[in-house]
Amino acid sequence: MSILVTGGAGFIGSNFVLDWLADPATGGETVVNLDALTYAGNLSNLATLQGDARHVFVHGDIGDRALVGQLLAGHRPRAIVHFAAESHVDRSILGPGAFIKTNVEGTFALLEAARAHWSALEGEERAAFRFLHVSTDEVYGSLAPGAPAFTENHPYEPNSPYSASKAASDHLVRAWHHTYGLPVLTTNCSNNYGPYHFPEKLIPLMIVNALAGKPLPVYGDGMQVRDWLYVGDHCSAIRAVLARGRVGQTYNVGGWNEKPNIEIVTAICSLLDELRPSPAGPYARLVTHVKDRPGHDRRYAIDARKIERELGWRPAETFETGIRRTVRWYLDHADWVAEVQSGGYRDWVAANYGRR
Ligand code: NAD
Ligand code: DAU
Repeated sequence: MSILVTGGAGFIGSNFVLDWLADPATGGETVVNLDALTYAGNLSNLATLQGDARHVFVHGDIGDRALVGQLLAGHRPRAIVHFAAESHVDRSILGPGAFIKTNVEGTFALLEAARAHWSALEGEERAAFRFLHVSTDEVYGSLAPGAPAFTENHPYEPNSPYSASKAASDHLVRAWHHTYGLPVLTTNCSNNYGPYHFPEKLIPLMIVNALAGKPLPVYGDGMQVRDWLYVGDHCSAIRAVLARGRVGQTYNVGGWNEKPNIEIVTAICSLLDELRPSPAGPYARLVTHVKDRPGHDRRYAIDARKIERELGWRPAETFETGIRRTVRWYLDHADWVAEVQSGGYRDWVAANYGRR
């Protein structure tokens, strides 16, 4: 038995692959990992799997229908878990083309390859097959203060090129189920954090900048609210949806943990003050308010009652335990940080922060 994971060398995908193979309930199943290794893909996230025959890495693009067809025919996975995407909102503002290419056209190509494969299956194999699409809460748009959290029935109101491209992919997945009967599942999750998070996103950027004594760039007033979830909890939610989710349904996944950005940044500073005090004084001295993100969504919040009610899933980590584990991970993995900050990383920092 095997599953095909796309984007399994990225932040959430690599955590998912590692957790899948470590879990006795799933670890007997091979993971075929298809990843294009963009700037966000990093095989060193999976270094502990070297020589492990249960992990088959394939360097390739989800848009390559012939390749995906070969992988499906050769490995006959019982499921596709689709993480591969361009995932950073700021990059989508500076260059939306790659987002349309991978998130929309790539998902379309993957759905077509999956449909061709699934249509030719028979009996048990056909009945068991699943296409699990990993999506985001950003498709629902921005919430007013005090408005109820997003349920699965909230209208789609994407505001950034990233969220619009993810919304388009969600619609394609829905349509492939409705029209062709492809057995799909979709998850819409809130902001993740944890190990292997690329330091272009808020939490890892604040940790690595603080340790380097660099400014901590808070967009606008820093009162934008996100619902933070430890990445291992997102991975366990995906495993639960894959195992027990109802075909054709969507499941919202969140941490019941709404916090304004400035509170996240000060929590990181306090943890670093405790774990790696700086001779220059408290890390909060580095907080710098900079020009806001264009079209910045003010608030996201997930109502995760459906996945709890139907599948019995709840997050295991609180923000306090998860952020402590995360800060410790970055302190213990200076080599990983140095490696991902080489190459194009500096160009990105100059492009995004140079003019703020
Ligand atoms: P990431 O940017 O860290 O990783 C994306 C991975 O996809 C990389 O390994 C990259 O090489 C690969 N990839 C990109 N284009 C590809 C292509 N055309 N073909 C094959 N592989 C390709 O992203 P992430 O943060 O791990 O997010 C994974 C998924 O989860 C995305 O679909 C994202 O929309 C969704 N999501 C992310 C979050 C979050 O907080 N990070 C929250 C909810 C949902
Ligand atoms: O909500 C789920 C989404 O969360 C995922 O779908 C995306 O893939 C993921 O990148 C994330 O999107 P955000 O835009 O919310 O994440 P980011 O880490 O980029 O920013 C979090 C908040 O912090 C947001 O309000 C912008 C702010 N921010 C971000 C950066 C990088 C800053 O204030 N300063 C920064 O330098």
